[in-house]
Amino acid sequence: MLDQDIERVLFTEAQLDTRIGEIAAEMNRDYAGKEPVLISVLRGSFVFMADLTRKITLPCTVDFMSVSSYGAGTKSSGQVQITKDLSDDIEGRDIIVVEDILDSGNTLSYLLEILKARKPASVKLCTLLDKPDRRVKDVHVDYSGFTIPDEFVVGYGLDYAEKYRNLPYIGILKPCVYGGE
Ligand code: XMP
Ligand code: MG
Repeated sequence: MLDQDIERVLFTEAQLDTRIGEIAAEMNRDYAGKEPVLISVLRGSFVFMADLTRKITLPCTVDFMSVSSYGAGTKSSGQVQITKDLSDDIEGRDIIVVEDILDSGNTLSYLLEILKARKPASVKLCTLLDKPDRRVKDVHVDYSGFTIPDEFVVGYGLDYAEKYRNLPYIGILKPCVYGGE
């Protein structure tokens, strides 16, 4: 059972649902009259993206991109690679980058630079989780779900070694699972 590897639940399904509803309501206000493109950074944000977009009542489009910076470990390497690019051109569009978690900031600062170079009309960042303790790059966040302590979390799209993404809540992984104490 996946549940046995979880030390503590940080956010239940109900808490996630409520907070995501609040973020969507803000976006519905901020983008009234516009047609934003929501860009999901795979794979971690796929669950958040699915729930967030279903609470957005504006016309919008979705696109997906994938970058890798972690491999199978739990610490960012600072090396970021685009492994899947967007399908559509974003020039002149209002884009919202949807991330699962902002940690060191390495991934997003690199990604946002690449996207801005493509001349969108505007760029905003939405992250479900913000882990500020390990930040090394300054990244401006427009929409943030929850600020979390420096613990490795899984579930609701977030993985450890590709597992646990299917947990419906967010929890702290027991350190013994990844070779900690
Ligand atoms: P950086 O350090 O570049 O990292 O801001 C962002 C990416 O790192 C992954 N990440 C995590 N994944 N639990 C996870 O499952 C975590 O606690 C965690 N912290 C960082 C994540 O893929 C994110 O996109
Ligand atoms: Mg990710």
